Amino acid sequence: MFHKSKALPSAGARSPLRCNRFVTAVTLPLLTFTLVVGMQGAGNGGGRGAKDPGVRGGTPGAGTPVSGLTANQLAFFSAGIESFEEQDTVTSGLGPRFNAEGCAQCHAQPATGGTSPFVNPQVAVANDQGATNQVPSFITLNGPVREARFPYTLDLKHIDGGVHALFTVTGRTDAPGCNISQDDFAKAAQEGDLIFRIPTPVFGSGLIETISDATILANMNNNLSQKHNLGVFGRPNTSANDGTITRFGWKAQNKSLEVFSGEAYNVEVGVTNELFNTERDQTPGCQFNPTPEDSTNFDLDGTSLPSDLIRFTMFMRFLDQPQPGTSSPSTQHGSQVFSQIGCALCHTPSLTTGLSSVAALSNIPANLYSDILLHHMGPNLADNVSQGVAGGDEFRTAPLWGLGQRIFFLHDGRTSDLVQAIQAHASGGNRQYQSSEANGAVNNYNKLSGGDQQDLLNFLRSL
Ligand code: HEC
Ligand code: HEC
Repeated sequence: MFHKSKALPSAGARSPLRCNRFVTAVTLPLLTFTLVVGMQGAGNGGGRGAKDPGVRGGTPGAGTPVSGLTANQLAFFSAGIESFEEQDTVTSGLGPRFNAEGCAQCHAQPATGGTSPFVNPQVAVANDQGATNQVPSFITLNGPVREARFPYTLDLKHIDGGVHALFTVTGRTDAPGCNISQDDFAKAAQEGDLIFRIPTPVFGSGLIETISDATILANMNNNLSQKHNLGVFGRPNTSANDGTITRFGWKAQNKSLEVFSGEAYNVEVGVTNELFNTERDQTPGCQFNPTPEDSTNFDLDGTSLPSDLIRFTMFMRFLDQPQPGTSSPSTQHGSQVFSQIGCALCHTPSLTTGLSSVAALSNIPANLYSDILLHHMGPNLADNVSQGVAGGDEFRTAPLWGLGQRIFFLHDGRTSDLVQAIQAHASGGNRQYQSSEANGAVNNYNKLSGGDQQDLLNFLRSL
């Protein structure tokens, strides 16, 4: 949850050395990447001609509800998608600070609920309705949707870690008299105190919610000797509230879809709601509505039309898992290679859901390609933000279902190229963080023939 986010309290945190390293890791990811390839692959990593075939075209393999829902559940799904696609105005709760005007602006590709689209809507959002925002340098028309966090406060004196919204409602015709400034992202970038997160897709998220803790732990304890031989460990993130395994977000920091909806509505869009009911910026003159801005509809008879919060939740909970594209001898062989070289030790191909009060979600194989565990990913990927038990270098194994139709990869969207996404998994340790648990698998990838590498990439784009 947002308020539990904090940056890693590392001893050398504010030393110039830490800053240099941080700048290398965050502001110059390409440079870091070059170093890593040189270190790991002895020049053979990308050098065998294997290429990412690119975003798979054709009809979206996602966006429909799970089969077997009741008529009433389907009605909730339909009401939910409508709310998810809505754009808020100041009158309906937008701001005072925000990253976008509605869920579907960020969760869009290849269908509503997905990830960053080809054209980043944040560029237009910056000046919508007369808003006078400057577009920060890391937001570009053809780049990924991004949100920003500062690991430390702008004076670098205190731990921060929280999301700093990119935009304000200042200048909008529906926010007369409000005059607040954007945060200083240029300064944060200069200080090396800026990290990014891109949207994760929510397809199949109701299934992720329904996988039992016991299933996750049993899978964690599978193939232990094979995992340890390759340097793979992994542990769950857990809720500070009830101790159970949390699943959602890049660091598996959030417990449920409802909690994520409440947080996202307030943090991304600025709409207070029954889970997060306080405005994050309470500057007088910029408060246009009583709070919470989204709430249960008391004007009805209590049996219908719940809050947006519940509608978002139901839409996401009922969204089916992405369907893969057509398989070929190459993708079938690539799938075997994926397991043989150790990718599947973290990216578990399938976990079966437990018993849900929604029958259609019960006992379903969720082909998510994730163990829902945190792994140490090395200084190259580390973002210095700690959430729940996840340290600054730990991330949830990113689910790979739907990968074939995704445009941007890794938590900060640093690449659109699968080969670079794989190479970025590898880095040696430094004073602050241990080496990546994926080094062994990436070494194995780099030793493959060009043909095997190509089959693996084709397999990934078939997902
Ligand atoms: C400005 C873009 C943006 C908007 C608007 C946005 N999100 Fe997100 N969403 C993100 C980002 C970035 C993440 C990853 C955050 C992280 O892990 O730190 C995310 C992650 C999620 C996840 C976690 C999925 C998973 O499996 O990890 C859910 C659920 C979610 N968003 C729901 C919503 C809902 C509901 C709304 C509308 C109220 C919304 N989002 C609006 C950017 C956005
Ligand atoms: C030690 C566990 C581990 C191993 C082994 C591993 N991965 Fe990953 N993978 C992760 C984590 C964690 C992330 C998210 C990292 C981040 O965003 O910073 C990730 C992200 C990815 C992504 C980007 C997905 C996205 O949503 O942006 C791809 C593609 C990927 N892995 C493919 C592979 C392949 C192919 C292999 C085998 C060569 C592999 N991984 C081995 C843990 C692992």
